Parts: sequence; structure tokens; C-alpha cells
Amino acid sequence: MVRYQSKDGKGILLVGDSRAMPVLPDRSVAVILTSPPYWVRGKGRDSALRYAKQIATEHSREWLRVLAPRGEVWIIMGDRHDGREWIGMDAILADSLHKAGWLLQTKAFWTEEPSTLRWDDRINYLLRFTKAGVRCKLPKATLCWHLPIPWSPPGSLWDAMPPGIVRRLLNLSPSGIVLDPFFGSGAVGAVAARMGRPWIGVERDRSQARVAARRLRLRRIQGMALEGAKLPLQFQDPK
Ligand SMILES: C[S@@+](CC[C@H](N)C(=O)[O-])C[C@H]1O[C@@H](n2cnc3c(N)ncnc32)[C@H](O)[C@@H]1O
Repeated sequence: MVRYQSKDGKGILLVGDSRAMPVLPDRSVAVILTSPPYWVRGKGRDSALRYAKQIATEHSREWLRVLAPRGEVWIIMGDRHDGREWIGMDAILADSLHKAGWLLQTKAFWTEEPSTLRWDDRINYLLRFTKAGVRCKLPKATLCWHLPIPWSPPGSLWDAMPPGIVRRLLNLSPSGIVLDPFFGSGAVGAVAARMGRPWIGVERDRSQARVAARRLRLRRIQGMALEGAKLPLQFQDPK
């Protein structure tokens, strides 16, 4: 497996498919903050339902394994008008994840202006989930932003997430390792690193991984996947 590492050893980028992350121990991650590839292919509710089911079944089962019992998942997810109607992706995704063992705990919004996408792709949900049976602290304020799309590094294929929002969400989440299983050009890793938090990214597209590695000044490493990393792989539950 190709991997990259930050100079201080607190950040690791694994190049591969995050549907299986065997190098990550069970219950080692404090927060998963990620934006999965958006629902852009297909039209209509059946297609949207298939998309959400795929995230819940193919991806979130591995998240359940690596996430600490009181860990949290933030998903940043666009919505879309498919030419006939708004799809309501937040409810569709929450329903699929509920069936897979997750509870939706917080719902927040980011609307972007201008957008490289169609006007109706500019609404982003920020959804916080915990494992079923877990309660998390609710934010005191309503989390809602209207912001321009931030800078993306050259070669990035995606609109970036505003760093201020990533920082705010990480501040609300338990301390410990931050995982982004759809790392792209590394917006989450960049903010986590600035906050001094240990982070792990997984990206299956080699060219996007190279963009992220350049942006975060990571070194390509030979050897076993997490060898030499300074990551707190034993998660301490907050008292
Ligand atoms: C919406 S983009 C993420 C953008 C990211 N937040 C950024 O800062 O650039 C989704 C990313 O997930 C990656 N991806 C899709 N399926 C994956 C998988 N199974 N494992 C790992 N990465 C995957 C895509 O290659 C893409 O770069």
C-alpha cells in the first residue's frame, strides 16, 4: 500500500479503498469528518436511495468498526434538484444510516456562493451521527453558514470545504484521531494538522492523493502502513 506521512508523524495518508481499512484498529478513531462523492449520477428517488444505501452498507460498516464507542461522524453532503424535484438527500441518507446502526444527532447547513456546480447543487448538509444508543452534546448555536467556495489546491477535482466550518465541527467533536475516508485534496487533514490533531486520510484516486500530499507536505513512506506514525491508536473515552 502506498502511504504518505507528515513530518511530525501525526498525519497519515493511505492510498486505497476506505471500504476496508484493516490497518486501523477497532474503536481507534474519535471523529470521522468527510464528504463522500456526491450523488451526481442518475435521477429520481430510486437512484438516490441506491446511492444512500451504498454509503450505509459498503462504507459505514467499516466506520462502525473503527470508530470509538462515543465517537462521532460528520458527513458533508450536497442536495440536488434532479430536474423533477428536490431529492431531500439528508433524510434519505439518515434513513439508510439509521438502518445500519446510526443515529442522526445534529443537522447543520452550508450554502455556497458562487458555485462551480448548478445553482441547485449549492445546498450542503452537515450531518452528525453517533452509534445507536449514544448521546452527544448538542451545539448551543444553530450551525448555519452562507459562504463563498474556498480556495482549492491546483489539480483538485472538488470544491473544497470552508476551513472555518471544518474547524468548528472538529471543535465540537471528541479529541483523538480524525479520519477522512474520502480525503480528496485533503481539506480535513489540513485543518486537523493546523489544530494539532492527529489525522488519517484515505483516498483511492492516486492523482488526488498526490495533490493532497503536495498540499500537506507529506513524505512518501516505505514499510508497514502505520509504522513510525505518532498516532494515539488507543482511544480514551471522554469522562
Ligand atoms: C467529494 S470528494 C472529497 C473532497 C475533499 N473533501 C477535498 O478536500 O478535496 C470524494 C473523494 O472520495 C474519493 N473516493 C471515492 N470512493 C472512495 C473509496 N471507496 N475509498 C477512498 N476514497 C474514495 C474520491 O476519489 C474523491 O477524491
